[in-house]
Amino acid sequence: MIRVLSSAMSIHDSKPTDAAVATARAHANFALVKYWGKRNSELNLPDVGSISITLDALHTTTRVTLDQNLQRDELWLNGQRSPAAELRARQVLDRIREAAGVSSCCRIDSENNFPTAAGLASSASGFAALVTAATAAMRYDTPESKRSEWARMGSGSAARSIFGGFSEMAKGRLDDGTDSVARPLLDAAAWPLEVVVAITRREQKGVSSTEGMLRTAQTSPFYKAWVKHQDQDLDLARDAIAAQDFDALADVAEASALSMHGLAMSARPGLLYFNPTTLACLHRVRELRAEGTPVFFTVDAGPQVKAICMPDHRHQVSTALSEISGVTEVISSVLGPAAHLIDTV
Ligand code: PMV
Repeated sequence: MIRVLSSAMSIHDSKPTDAAVATARAHANFALVKYWGKRNSELNLPDVGSISITLDALHTTTRVTLDQNLQRDELWLNGQRSPAAELRARQVLDRIREAAGVSSCCRIDSENNFPTAAGLASSASGFAALVTAATAAMRYDTPESKRSEWARMGSGSAARSIFGGFSEMAKGRLDDGTDSVARPLLDAAAWPLEVVVAITRREQKGVSSTEGMLRTAQTSPFYKAWVKHQDQDLDLARDAIAAQDFDALADVAEASALSMHGLAMSARPGLLYFNPTTLACLHRVRELRAEGTPVFFTVDAGPQVKAICMPDHRHQVSTALSEISGVTEVISSVLGPAAHLIDTV
């Protein structure tokens, strides 16, 4: 029997009305080997593979309500209508509706428990949660790889947030993108690394990753070399994760993050995601490592710094980063689970 929820309610309420509803949660992920560049912008097919970790502390909770009274899909993000994300969400929902044989429009109520579009992977957790909730609301049972494919259409990195722990996104070769999906590499519990995120600015970033990737591919003289080199870094990171070799993972992850930012800086006009506090954090992480603390950094398309460390050193890393002038907040997290359903009614 399908119990139903009112579309006007808050995400955590539940009162019967006339639609099928599902709520899912997905967690943000940070790439250790970075994705930067698309081979097809429409389908979000990457030019390079990538490897990431999923975080427990940063997540999106999304409720999808099938509502025959709606004329078009509506996306409410943290209580506000979000037209930019709505367009992408609609395209993703169209694919799922077609596969599931469903015609109803959807109301999407989505909440992030962390700053949106500030380099904290909110689009990754957002689209992974959307696809997981939408397939459940439509009663369409799909394998994780299919959900990963649909999530990728919303945001390339979202394909990885379908999985927990460590996961790898394949570049794929097919034009339709059915092989551009993520797969799990290692469970969170198997190698319980921790992450300290230093927030250096809460406002939304200036240049989106999509725009930044496009500009980089079109204008950087180093783009082809970046694409060519990526497989080597993927091999190194995969081996480091399989062997749980922290130093090897630190080495390849920092190299990948700095290469991605160096590449982005070489676009015209150059993309500068770091602010002075970002740089101060990177230096501090390197100092800590030189003193013997197992920690390394990564940075995405924003000014926040993510320091990955062994569990016993989380407190020390967190204290060191919070003491840096300009760091407004520090968030610590263990590795997180796969995208999952919270409720289906
Ligand atoms: O999935 P997008 O479009 O948000 O791009 C993600 C880009 C980076 O975060 C910078 C790198 C990555 O692999 O997540």
